Amino acid sequence: MQNNTFSTLFIGQKLIKLIEVDSTNTYLKRLLSNSEPLAEGTVIMAAHQTAGRGQQGANWESEQGKNIILSVYLAPRAVPLDKQFFLNMAIALAVTHALQQFIKEDIKVKWPNDIYWQNKKLGGILIENTLAGTCIKSSIIGIGINVNQRSFSHSISSKTISAANILGEDLNIDAVVEQLCIFLEKYYLLLLAKKYDILHKYYSESLYLRGELSLFEENGKVFEGKITNVDESGFLLMDAKSLHRKFNFKEVQFLHTHTR
Ligand code: BTN
Repeated sequence: MQNNTFSTLFIGQKLIKLIEVDSTNTYLKRLLSNSEPLAEGTVIMAAHQTAGRGQQGANWESEQGKNIILSVYLAPRAVPLDKQFFLNMAIALAVTHALQQFIKEDIKVKWPNDIYWQNKKLGGILIENTLAGTCIKSSIIGIGINVNQRSFSHSISSKTISAANILGEDLNIDAVVEQLCIFLEKYYLLLLAKKYDILHKYYSESLYLRGELSLFEENGKVFEGKITNVDESGFLLMDAKSLHRKFNFKEVQFLHTHTR
């Protein structure tokens, strides 16, 4: 365990750096199931994951030592279950704004919580909550950001990018992690202060393809629509063929094509 000098109150003040692990989310889950209490804001970082996990059971690819692979322990007990999506909003905004300290333009949140630069994926978030009654007892926030990896495996290379690909030079990973901890704390404190309207507004403004007529797919059918917002429960709101439509997770796919 390392004690840090980040200018934060608690996120990243305890930092465990591992050379190799199965998955930082899984490691944190194991730590939490031990009897020793864990300080809120503890961060587990790894240079390499042997079984990195992405959303919907996918793998998370990351070249050894090149990228940010970390998990943060939060205990957002004060966040009611019907406000659960605001935790996603806070985390996605934190990653976006941390990256904007290094990459000035074109970073957006692809609903619900992928981080995009133009039309390519720069980072991903995997949030695993443990619920107790009507609140979130603990939350494992897994974040993967492509920082200095230059090339990706064939299956994802056309839709994936790194900060180094964008900037043409490597970034100091620890400097990006520090910004990440600062912005995670900022947005998490906004969440705890119940500033839901502010989070909603910022998240809405950061949405990838918002207000742009684009192609989507639902049940194998391609349609043209314009993202307008998300609602408080995290449904994606869209205008399509003069109808106001609402989609739950996995009900709609992005085809990443603007039509106008
Ligand atoms: C996604 O599919 O977009 C989510 C990717 C999340 C990857 C990160 S890397 C650190 C943490 N540990 C994991 O096993 N996954 C998350």
